[in-house]
Amino acid sequence: MDYAKAMALLKEHGQTQLLKYYDELSDEQKRILLDEIEHIDFSIIDRAGKDAKRAQGKITPADAVTVADIQEHREEYKKLGLECIKAGKVAAVLLAGGQGTRLGSDAPKGTFNIGISRKLSIFGCQMETIKSVAAEAGYNFHLFVMTSRINDAATKAFFKENDFFGYPEDRIHFFIQGVSPACSHDKKIFLAEKYMPVLTPNGNGGWYSSLIGAGLGEILKRDGVEWLNVYSVDNVLQKICDPVFVGATKMSGCACSGKVVKKVSPDEKVGVLCKEDGAPTIVEYYELSDELRNARDADGELTYRWGVILNYLFSVEKLNGIDVNDLPYHLADKKVPHIENGVKVEPTEPNGYKFETLVVDMIKLMGSCLAVEVVREHEFAPVKNRTGVDSVDSARELLKLNGVSL
Ligand code: UTP
Repeated sequence: MDYAKAMALLKEHGQTQLLKYYDELSDEQKRILLDEIEHIDFSIIDRAGKDAKRAQGKITPADAVTVADIQEHREEYKKLGLECIKAGKVAAVLLAGGQGTRLGSDAPKGTFNIGISRKLSIFGCQMETIKSVAAEAGYNFHLFVMTSRINDAATKAFFKENDFFGYPEDRIHFFIQGVSPACSHDKKIFLAEKYMPVLTPNGNGGWYSSLIGAGLGEILKRDGVEWLNVYSVDNVLQKICDPVFVGATKMSGCACSGKVVKKVSPDEKVGVLCKEDGAPTIVEYYELSDELRNARDADGELTYRWGVILNYLFSVEKLNGIDVNDLPYHLADKKVPHIENGVKVEPTEPNGYKFETLVVDMIKLMGSCLAVEVVREHEFAPVKNRTGVDSVDSARELLKLNGVSL
C-alpha cells in the first residue's frame, strides 16, 4: 500500500492521525507503518460499540454435575477418558497470548517463577500435569500453544531453554493469535511509536480460527483429534486433558463442557455458567446484574453459583460446523501507553479501549454444554495479581496444599 491509498483508507475511517509523523520516518519505518495500516481491521471499532450495547437475553440458572455425581461414576468416566486419550482423540490448547498486565511483568505469564527455593515456572508446573496424564494414558497427546506477536519469540525460547519440559518437541505446536488496534475514548487509534499503531492481542476468543489459520487443522485431521481441551495459562492447578472430565463429557453427548467451581461470594470475579434464552452461556462477572449476582436459592446457596475456571472441552466436529468468528467484541477500558505530541505517554488511569473476543462466548455457539463441578482447592489457583486475591501468594499456598514442593 502506498501513502495515497493509506491516507484515503484512513480518511474513510476517521483515523488520519496514524500518518501524523509520516514525514519524519525512515524509509523502512514508512514501509512498516503502511503495511500495518493495510492490515488493520477498522470494522472492529464500530462493531465493538454496537456489540457492547446488545441486549442480554433472559438469564436463568444452569445445572452442573456436582463433585458427588462425578465421584459416583468416577471409574467409568476415567476409563472412557483414558481410552479416548490413548486413541489420540484428545488434544490440549494452551491460551498463552494474554499480556498479563495485572501481574506487572513484560515476560510471558507462563515463564513466571512460582517456585520459592527452586525454579518452577507456570509453564513447567502445567507441563508436569500433562506428562502425568500422557504417561497414564500411554500416549503423548498434542499440545497447541497460542501466543501473541508480542510474546511468541520469548515463549518459544523458554520452551526450548527448558528442553520442552521433557515432553516430545514434535507434539508441541505454537501458533500466534490475531491483534486488534487500541484507541482513545473518542475511538482514535493510538500510535505506540511514530511508525507503529498500538496493536494488542485480540482476546482469547479467536483461538480456533487462529489455530486453523496457522495450518494446524491438518494435524487434527491426520490424527483424528475429536476433542480440544482449552485452558488458561494462569491457573497453576489446572488439570489438563483430565480423563474423568473427558469421559463425563463424552458420555453426556454435549458438544462442549466446562469445569466450574462454586463461587465463594457474589462478588468473586469469575464468569458464571448459566442459560440465556434457554441456551447454555457464560456471563462475565462484570455483565451480571446486581440482582442476579446476589440471588439465593431457598437453601441459601447462590442461584448463579457456577464459576468457570477457563478449562473447557470442545468437540472438533461441532467447532467445524459453526462460524467461530461470529463472536462479539468486548470493549475493555485500559491504560494504553502511546505517543502524544511526539513523546511517549504512560497513563496512570484508563485512557482508551482494547478490543477482545472471549472464549466464553463460544459456549453459546456450541449449543450444549456440560458444567462439571471440581474441587476448588485442588483445581483452581489463579495467578492474576502479584499479591492479594488470586495472586502469586495465594497460588503458592494452594500448590503447597496439594503437595507441590516449592
Ligand atoms: P486474562 O483475561 O486474565 O488476560 O486471560 P491476561 O491478558 O492474561 O491478563 P491481564 O488481564 O492483562 O492481567 C485469561 C487467559 O486467556 C489468555 C491468557 O493468556 C490467559 O491464559 N489470553 C488472554 C489470550 O490467550 N489472549 C488474549 O488476547 C487474552
